[in-house]
Amino acid sequence: MTEADFLKIADMLYKDAGIHLSPSKTDLVYSRLSKRLRTLGIASFKDYCALVADSSNAGERMTMLASLTTNVTHFFREKHHFDHLREHLLPPLLQAARQGERVRLWSAGCSTGHEPYSMAMTLLAMMPNAASHDIRILATDIDPNVVATGRAGIYGASDLGGVPAEYRRRWFRPAPPIAGTGRGGTDEMDFEVVDAMRDLVVFRELNLIGQWPMKGRFDAIFCRNVTIYFDQQTRERVWKRFAERIQPGGYLYVGHSERLGGPATAVLTYESNTSYRKTGA
Ligand SMILES: C[S@@+](CC[C@H](N)C(=O)[O-])C[C@H]1O[C@@H](n2cnc3c(N)ncnc32)[C@H](O)[C@@H]1O
Repeated sequence: MTEADFLKIADMLYKDAGIHLSPSKTDLVYSRLSKRLRTLGIASFKDYCALVADSSNAGERMTMLASLTTNVTHFFREKHHFDHLREHLLPPLLQAARQGERVRLWSAGCSTGHEPYSMAMTLLAMMPNAASHDIRILATDIDPNVVATGRAGIYGASDLGGVPAEYRRRWFRPAPPIAGTGRGGTDEMDFEVVDAMRDLVVFRELNLIGQWPMKGRFDAIFCRNVTIYFDQQTRERVWKRFAERIQPGGYLYVGHSERLGGPATAVLTYESNTSYRKTGA
């Protein structure tokens, strides 16, 4: 992979997803994409770049994007946000939901579903019949593979390490083995989310730098460990759009290394532990 190939790939990823790749990521790009070149029988990165630059190959362009995103996540990651949800945000919202009001939470950049399901478990612990009220958690990601994994809601036993035993017992059940996939084999037991979780969480593919088809505002948005891959200009644009979509008094939760900047800070005030509250409640 030449420097010119790397720059072309970085340029496409930036235009498509807002993800900024510095030259220090050259080895990572090489190792993730060389497998793909072998699978396709393509001999050079130059040829691969020409292929994905051709608009008739949108499917391969998305495959490239998906292989270059970083999807690391786990249940109850940065646990203080779920504590905050339980102690501060949810009590009045669930009270309002009992009176028929609408409650919407959004996990933006949800990866394989661990984050929205952690939000769902926090909520279900307080209101086990939540899905029968007008309460939903929207879970979105640009990468169709992780969205499909989240929607399937099936996780290996080792993946559930961060889930408290009581929650595991209530909101996961052993998943039946699927013939021919090796899943449910002898190495590791799989678990699937129960219907109360499925009914609460809605998975969609969505590019944060593209159009957002959703109408209405959110009571809280989790966008954690996503904007670290963007440049400052893209981050600030996304945060501004979140600010417009959050209800007065609602919250934006960001990752531990992220700090809000730009126009969003006019309405989102830092509270504590990387959570920001929208003014005007
Ligand atoms: C490191 S994961 C974070 C997952 C979860 N929020 C957490 O903190 O555990 C980052 C996710 O952001 C997604 N992502 C990156 N760029 C995106 C974009 N432009 N639009 C939507 N999702 C994006 C990636 O596909 C990936 O799944």
